[in-house]
Amino acid sequence: MTLLETIKEAEVKGIAVGHFNISDTAALKAIVRAATELQLPVVIGLSEGERNFFGIEEAALIMRNLREKHGLPVYLNADHTYSLENIKRAVEAGCDAVIFDGAKLPLEENIRQTKEVVQYVKSVNPGILVEAELGYIGTSSELFTETPIGAAVKEEDLTTVEDAVRFVKETGVDMFAPAVGNIHGMSVSVSNPDLNIARIRAIKDAVLIPLVLHGGSGIKDSDFVSAASAGISLIHINTEIRLAWREALQKSLASNPNEVAPYKLLLASEAAVYEAVSERLKLFAKL
Ligand code: G3H
Ligand code: ZN
Repeated sequence: MTLLETIKEAEVKGIAVGHFNISDTAALKAIVRAATELQLPVVIGLSEGERNFFGIEEAALIMRNLREKHGLPVYLNADHTYSLENIKRAVEAGCDAVIFDGAKLPLEENIRQTKEVVQYVKSVNPGILVEAELGYIGTSSELFTETPIGAAVKEEDLTTVEDAVRFVKETGVDMFAPAVGNIHGMSVSVSNPDLNIARIRAIKDAVLIPLVLHGGSGIKDSDFVSAASAGISLIHINTEIRLAWREALQKSLASNPNEVAPYKLLLASEAAVYEAVSERLKLFAKL
């Protein structure tokens, strides 16, 4: 199945596919193992920073190998890409999907640049999915003490149905990521804001294309389930698994003070990411 077919199937079932970001192979192995054991498809995402570290061509090669040689439904997404130049690199490397992130731009400019990205990607390979964002929800998958400045959390700042319809129609994107109460990163002290489920449903009913939920870390379980029923077909998680990776590594270093082999020390991170991803995948698939 293609990524679009996978997402359409989730849409029909009222469930969501999981999208998880990686920086290293410990996380990649953990995510692929969790998805394979649960017999679920999964999307691996790399932001521009993660791509710079991991290598987008290397990631694409691994994913192609997992899919073609082992038959696994794993897909690669060039997450949050801020320039056409970087979109081109991702497309040339062989990503299944790209995200152009113009959320910080004024609406008109976001539409103009997104449209340009769609035209380019479709001229190279119509099968590559293009996703875009409307509504600023912060940029970093990090722990925060205060809501990122400028992030849309109040009802009046969320993506409106009217803007969503115009954006989708004028740009021709395959998938759309609105601001519906979600924010990138995770609060260290309080819960992340609640999702606006009614807004998700209204946008979905109006735009009809698959909706993507970013900023999944810190969102309460019941909101994920309601969001999937309301029309979210793909959910992004990053900060939660970064935290699991880090805390496990800290413990591993503390309990093995003389160990220097990364492949031994990182086993704990792999296990922690596996646990976190398994839980999220089960919830998104309503298993
Ligand atoms: O694109 C990545 C995500 O939207 C991750 O957000 O770090 O809040 O889970 P998160
Ligand atoms: Zn995101």
